Amino acid sequence: MLSQQTIDIIKSTVPVLEQHGVTITKTFYSNMLRKHPELLNYFNRANQARERQQTALANTVLAAAKYIDNLQAIVPAVMQIAHKHRGLGILPEHYPIVGENLLAAIKEVLGDAATDEIINAWAEAYGVIADVFISIEEDLYKEAEKDGGWRLFKSFKVARKEEESEEVTSFYLVSEDGEKLPEYKAGQYITVRVKVPGDEYTSNRHYTLSQPSNENEFRISVKREDAVDPRGVVSNYLHEQVNVGDTIEISAPAGLFTLEDNSNPVLFVSGGIGVTPLNTMLQTMELGRQVAFVQCARNEKAVAFKEQIDKKVNELNGTYRVLFSDENGYVTKEDLAPFIKENTEIYICGPAPFMETVISIARELGLPGDNIHFEFFGPAMSLDSLANAN
Ligand code: HEM
Repeated sequence: MLSQQTIDIIKSTVPVLEQHGVTITKTFYSNMLRKHPELLNYFNRANQARERQQTALANTVLAAAKYIDNLQAIVPAVMQIAHKHRGLGILPEHYPIVGENLLAAIKEVLGDAATDEIINAWAEAYGVIADVFISIEEDLYKEAEKDGGWRLFKSFKVARKEEESEEVTSFYLVSEDGEKLPEYKAGQYITVRVKVPGDEYTSNRHYTLSQPSNENEFRISVKREDAVDPRGVVSNYLHEQVNVGDTIEISAPAGLFTLEDNSNPVLFVSGGIGVTPLNTMLQTMELGRQVAFVQCARNEKAVAFKEQIDKKVNELNGTYRVLFSDENGYVTKEDLAPFIKENTEIYICGPAPFMETVISIARELGLPGDNIHFEFFGPAMSLDSLANAN
């Protein structure tokens, strides 16, 4: 239990630290990864290069500190991050390393203003926040191990590779030990860990499972990225160098972006490869539920899963629209209005600017926050935005 004095110190220093957020996070990362290069096996170096992860982790500690006397309030947001951490295999022993380097960065940035009292208060607060993550993650590890699952990574063989579009290829993966696979919810993802030739460290990427749960095989559908974009390291490696019969390491399914269990009408709105979780959700829908699917893609060639979506939407007597941004720009209010009723549940997935547009259209059309569901690809930007989204 933190003393009132510690809580007061934390709350009064958060605003100053947030002002220096960028410097703290940069100092924190570069020092930590220099002292502990083994952590490069976990951190996505493409996100590092674009400063995405820097913003995500350290800013979240600062944001969490605002709720230090009511950590219950941030549990839903922590859950999302904890699912990613569990997929990546983050362990309790990693937390003190992050803590030590974060404190050192705070000290460095605040200079003389960083009194022992302030630093000790932050050390205590970080310990409390870390304990919340560690205990939620331990529950998730236990959950992952149940019913045919496993704790960290397990070897899978590529059974088939199938092209879905010019840019997207599906990989069918079977467990090397021949065990049945655990059941998962449509919308969940697995984390793939590979060692790209020429790289000293492993790379991890989350990929949504692109077909409904099935005890024999997983399927992921991977978009080839522009070769010069660092994001593409793993997806291009999978496309070009991983073939039928090869082995990759996979963590058990994780994630909270899944279909709500009710009978409300559903509107799916996807941008680009964001179609993957939404198509999986669609495929699990039962007859009788109303559905509309608006799939946005750059052009005809970039449309994945068209036949599967069309077939299932027809079975459900729903509506399917494909919109091309090369021709008409982003999706508009007029495109979505016909499919939004008072109790519609909208599921959105795609690049961040696309999602922001669709979320604001959904709000303008009067949907309450509880009916708007979305998942960012890549690091969620801040705990506050996650907290507001829930
Ligand atoms: C209380 C401490 C921590 C907080 C608040 C925190 C927060 C976050 C957040 C907000 C994300 C982005 C989630 C997303 O992608 O949506 C993230 C991702 C991640 N975290 Fe943590 N984290 C903490 C501790 C740790 C520790 C101890 C490690 C291991 C050394 C770690 C490793 C990672 C990695 C590897 C990612 C994925 C980043 C990427 O490569 O894209 N985190 N964390």
